[in-house]
Amino acid sequence: MERYRLNPLLPQERIASIVQRLADQISKDYGGRELVLVCILKGAFMFLSDLVRLLKVPAKIDFVRLASYGAGMETSGIIEITKDIEIPVEGKDVLIIEDIIDSGRTLQFLKERLSLANPHSVKICALLDKKARREVAVEADYLGTEVEDVFIVGYGIDFNEDYRHLPEIYYVTPIDQT
Ligand code: IMP
Ligand code: MG
Repeated sequence: MERYRLNPLLPQERIASIVQRLADQISKDYGGRELVLVCILKGAFMFLSDLVRLLKVPAKIDFVRLASYGAGMETSGIIEITKDIEIPVEGKDVLIIEDIIDSGRTLQFLKERLSLANPHSVKICALLDKKARREVAVEADYLGTEVEDVFIVGYGIDFNEDYRHLPEIYYVTPIDQT
């Protein structure tokens, strides 16, 4: 059985300052608007919960569950909605809350899908971005920080459903390679 090492990448204080900066930007931009945050489950749950507590503007909160990854570290390339939003977003300002942008396919799919409901705007807030892995033209309107092409866990983000509970962010390496 392969074993893995968790290498520290972003400590709690660094995450907190990133989330504060994003909350400040969003609060400034969405004053007087009808903001609906659409959190992508499960990876973004911790990011969302920290972010909303720092917002200075009212926001409604909804969730989608998208299946895009099979077991392990590689994407299947197929995306499906397994839990849709419940709040009507027509005329509203939608902000998608995502943990990591990788190929960009998940966000491209969701952005197009949400746009069908005629919202006033659809934007993206992502905590992490692996820009080197992008396959389609999708960018975050609000970005926490760029990361290298490594496999990330912690702060809501999993590896086969493990490590979501960790308050810090790590990258995973096989134990015999480093
Ligand atoms: P994309 O559609 O290729 O951009 O994939 C984005 C989704 O893949 C994210 O919502 C994550 O759930 C997952 N993902 C991408 N990179 C990682 C990673 O390093 N660790 C865990 N999940 C990841
Ligand atoms: Mg995800």
